[in-house]
Amino acid sequence: MTENRTQTAIKNLLNGRDVTAGDLAVDDPATGKIIAWVRAYTVDEVSQIIAEADTARHAWAARTAKERGAILRKWFDLILANQTDLAHLITAECGKPLAEAMVEVAYGAAFVEWFAEEGKRAYGETIPSFATGKRVLTIKQPVGTCAAITPWNFPIAMVTRKVAPALAAGCSIILKPAEATPLSALAIERLAIEAGVPSAVFKVTPVCEPAPVGELFCSDDRVRKLSFTGSTPVGKILMAQAAQNIAKISLELGGNAPFIVFDDADIDAAITGAIASKFRNAGQTCVCANRFLVQDSIAEEFTEKFTARIAKLKVAPGVERGAEIGPLINDAGYAKVSALVDGAIAAGAVARLGGPSSERGGNFYAPTVLTGVTNDMDIAQSEIFGPVASIMIFATEDDAIRMANDTPFGLAAYFYARDMGRIWRVMEALEYGMVGINDGVLSSEVAPFGGIKQSGLGREGSKHGLDEYMELKYALMGGVS
Ligand code: SIN
Repeated sequence: MTENRTQTAIKNLLNGRDVTAGDLAVDDPATGKIIAWVRAYTVDEVSQIIAEADTARHAWAARTAKERGAILRKWFDLILANQTDLAHLITAECGKPLAEAMVEVAYGAAFVEWFAEEGKRAYGETIPSFATGKRVLTIKQPVGTCAAITPWNFPIAMVTRKVAPALAAGCSIILKPAEATPLSALAIERLAIEAGVPSAVFKVTPVCEPAPVGELFCSDDRVRKLSFTGSTPVGKILMAQAAQNIAKISLELGGNAPFIVFDDADIDAAITGAIASKFRNAGQTCVCANRFLVQDSIAEEFTEKFTARIAKLKVAPGVERGAEIGPLINDAGYAKVSALVDGAIAAGAVARLGGPSSERGGNFYAPTVLTGVTNDMDIAQSEIFGPVASIMIFATEDDAIRMANDTPFGLAAYFYARDMGRIWRVMEALEYGMVGINDGVLSSEVAPFGGIKQSGLGREGSKHGLDEYMELKYALMGGVS
């Protein structure tokens, strides 16, 4: 049943593409069964594709922003027209529940719509001159040929969040999708071409071995910009490699999001926000709450109510009606979460719910609540990437801020409070690129997504996301009498 629906989505979205033979096996994390074989590109082939993209970019950049915007708008319409099939592809290769996959398609499409408009607003400026007879101005120009490397946890939205601004700016772009989730990226590419994007201007190149292609993206001097979403260790390698050509680089890396609940918070609202933040994609997002810091006087009430809500979450394959928690992406993901939970329990934490065993087996990890966690435990210092809520207790506002900032990461943070003075103080003191106040989900195409410290560089989405694909040129015009 599942496989039939997946095969229909593949047929509808990748018409003509042979997915019965190829070097890259794509499996369904819910069953472990192979659902497709995808052709993988060699490093030499990707190099040739870079050459073609570098030629094609000139004609694309020469089109008006309005023309490019109209093509992007058509692409947006096509993505939404194919929302259900695209959602089935996401669920089949990444495991997230179908309802959540539908939301991801809309989220991914929103970046295309946003940048279709924003490309038309890549304004330069005139600057009051520093001398008579001289005029000072700036223009923005496309950075050139770009490369992108995207993760498996958002197989569509992370593609459009990079490709749409690149295309809107007038760049060409080559994208290597995650090895686990190439089908969604290939489907998105096909819809872009159907909308009118020239095939050499946007090319998806699945590979079996990611490292050599990452190296190529950084060492080929035709690639002027690399955008990567993934782990901090890989981001560091790419950043060092990108130094070879001083290529522009954006990095959206790991997080360790604190979720702070102060004693003046609306506890029921905090629990709703906590569920949304923690359990999105079974806890497998970079902005998922990773540590719950709860003020001592409300800790027991919060823990009890939070645990009761978590106990009701439905763990099931993503295609099953009402599924809320799907499988983890693979054995390695499951092993990592298990090791963190086992380690925390060995170090003194207590499992109020769940724990290492899972009734469903496979890669389904039972939603788990740990109390008695301390900030020095591995589980508090690592990105869990699983449906595990670790709860710590703090006494004062200063303690909460100190504990929240005690990490090399700085992507997203959340807190619930009502006192206005506290809201401003805490928002300003949190060393994070994004702060959710009385809200557990902050992602949107209109807002700048990105981190500080070891969580990355640059911003995606919003008007700032376009600048990542543009160069600012200053022109001085003399001899003006
Ligand atoms: C991510 O996990 O990398 C992205 C999450 C989001 O866009 O909300």
